[in-house]
Amino acid sequence: MAQARQALSEGNRGYALMLLREAHDGAPKDSAAAVLLARVLLAQGHPMAAIEMLAAHLALNPRSAEAARKLSDILASVTPVNFSRVNNAGLAAALRLDRVTADPIARAAGLLLAERGEAAAFSSGTDEAALLIALLEAAPVREPALESWLVAYRRAALDSLSGLSAAPDEALLAAMARQIWLNEGVWPVAEAERKAVDRLDPADPAQRLIMALYLPADRWRPAEDGDGGGLPKALAGLAADIGRERHEMARADADLGPAIRAADETGDAVAAQYEANPYPRWSWVQPPLAGAVRAFLDRIAGPSAGPSAGPSAASAQPAGGWARGPLRVLIAGCGTGQEAVQAALAYAPNARLLAFDFSRASLRYAAMKARRHRLDTVRFRQADILDLPAIEPPFEPPFDEPADLIECIGVLHHMADPFAGWRILLDRLRPGGLMYVGLYSATARRGLTALRDRLAGAGVDPADPDAIRAVRARILARPEIDFERALADSADFFTLSEVRDLLFNAHERPLSLEAIGAFLKDEGLEFLHMDIRPHIAEAFAAAQGGSAVLDLEAWAAFERDNPDTFDGMYLFWVRKPG
Ligand SMILES: C[S@@+](CC[C@H](N)C(=O)[O-])C[C@H]1O[C@@H](n2cnc3c(N)ncnc32)[C@H](O)[C@@H]1O
Repeated sequence: MAQARQALSEGNRGYALMLLREAHDGAPKDSAAAVLLARVLLAQGHPMAAIEMLAAHLALNPRSAEAARKLSDILASVTPVNFSRVNNAGLAAALRLDRVTADPIARAAGLLLAERGEAAAFSSGTDEAALLIALLEAAPVREPALESWLVAYRRAALDSLSGLSAAPDEALLAAMARQIWLNEGVWPVAEAERKAVDRLDPADPAQRLIMALYLPADRWRPAEDGDGGGLPKALAGLAADIGRERHEMARADADLGPAIRAADETGDAVAAQYEANPYPRWSWVQPPLAGAVRAFLDRIAGPSAGPSAGPSAASAQPAGGWARGPLRVLIAGCGTGQEAVQAALAYAPNARLLAFDFSRASLRYAAMKARRHRLDTVRFRQADILDLPAIEPPFEPPFDEPADLIECIGVLHHMADPFAGWRILLDRLRPGGLMYVGLYSATARRGLTALRDRLAGAGVDPADPDAIRAVRARILARPEIDFERALADSADFFTLSEVRDLLFNAHERPLSLEAIGAFLKDEGLEFLHMDIRPHIAEAFAAAQGGSAVLDLEAWAAFERDNPDTFDGMYLFWVRKPG
């Protein structure tokens, strides 16, 4: 290992690779060697070799969180490809580990299992069966083909109660019940199934197990003070986990500040949506490479303009620039906290964060998750952006002072006047401070907007889960090439709150780059960086010239020529004038 590190530090990757392979073959239990080998394989342009090696390593060392985290990182960065050679047992082991971001691994597991085809039967005891169970328990299934197999299996399980089909596998049913909890019951339900489920008797454990595959937890879990009679053993762990989560969320409520109502009618409707369907549910955030995000801030904003340079911060903060100086960060519209936890990890160590939202249900979930991540640098508060000017100071110290950095991703376009909301947030940012903004692109979302209008015209009730399930089922049944069917490729299609956010949002006002550019000009904001995937950045540089990356008009022209440039949302950094 030492020799390999030496070779790496001398830039001799080929030699390091050979040494690391030897080290890994000689000590197959050494996770540090496996992770380093994966890093070098990746740097050499062999992501699949890294993925296959790590999965094989995990099959031998199923408790290696280090290897699982690396596997998750790599899977998150590759375009889904053919995973058929990836070790099933290794993937299952990674999915079973705590403190690992499950979604990228789940995506690979879903693709791998979907490749089996619909004819494949579930055969308990196999590696494939164990992978399916691990996937169902870890993250929402995002493969329509696999979902339809599972929906058919669930129906057969229901029929088995009346002897119409063979007895199902109990472990698989229990894992499916957990999946229903994770996806909030998004799978389609036929009318005949609904009627049959209404007739089930919760006193009978076998029937209660089937109820958990169709109904919200309140309908099948014993009351907190109940005796648990009729609860099948297979559901005991799930029932306890749901209880624990609810308990932790209820406890977190006390720290969210006084309860408030949204400040205007649009806010009322939007808050009601996120109150019923907090968005998104998420599994775990792995810490990014230490210092990488801070170094990125220095690159885009320049070390000299960091916290120590800002007038309001100058007295209170030591030198150190964006890379090292203390940061006071506001997360506006933090939802269920994934962004806030990511930010707390990325800006650590000397950053303090305050994350706020007007949906209390979202905040309870956020605070529960932050506590599970053992983060004490981020606080959560219930607040409406529109109310901030009227409350002085709007937050307790140190957030009574303007922030060094504000993040506001996916929020302002849900306000009646996004620019009015944006201006209020700028008042909470110190001169020279940075803002990371995410706003829907009207161009990128043109098809979605048309679909949303059609659904609204058809009178679909967005608060009715049955209506959402029915619309989703119709979309999934369309031919593969259709625009609507392509939505099923979107990550936001596999939990109820995702679909509601995507298709039935109470209010959204996508924007154009021209309008955003005009706002930046009015406010004197400096455009610092467009956050975009590398292949788009390359295409932009080829079309507009590399020096145009900071020119919003060039981005607008590029988007006109390539209307699918942005993944639904513009994500960018700006700086307030100093
Ligand atoms: C799509 S979610 C985005 C959550 C989070 N920023 C993320 O990227 O995961 C939008 C969030 O904005 C919140 N929101 C919308 N308008 C708001 C306002 N005026 N004040 C506070 N929160 C607001 C909603 O309650 C919701 O949680």
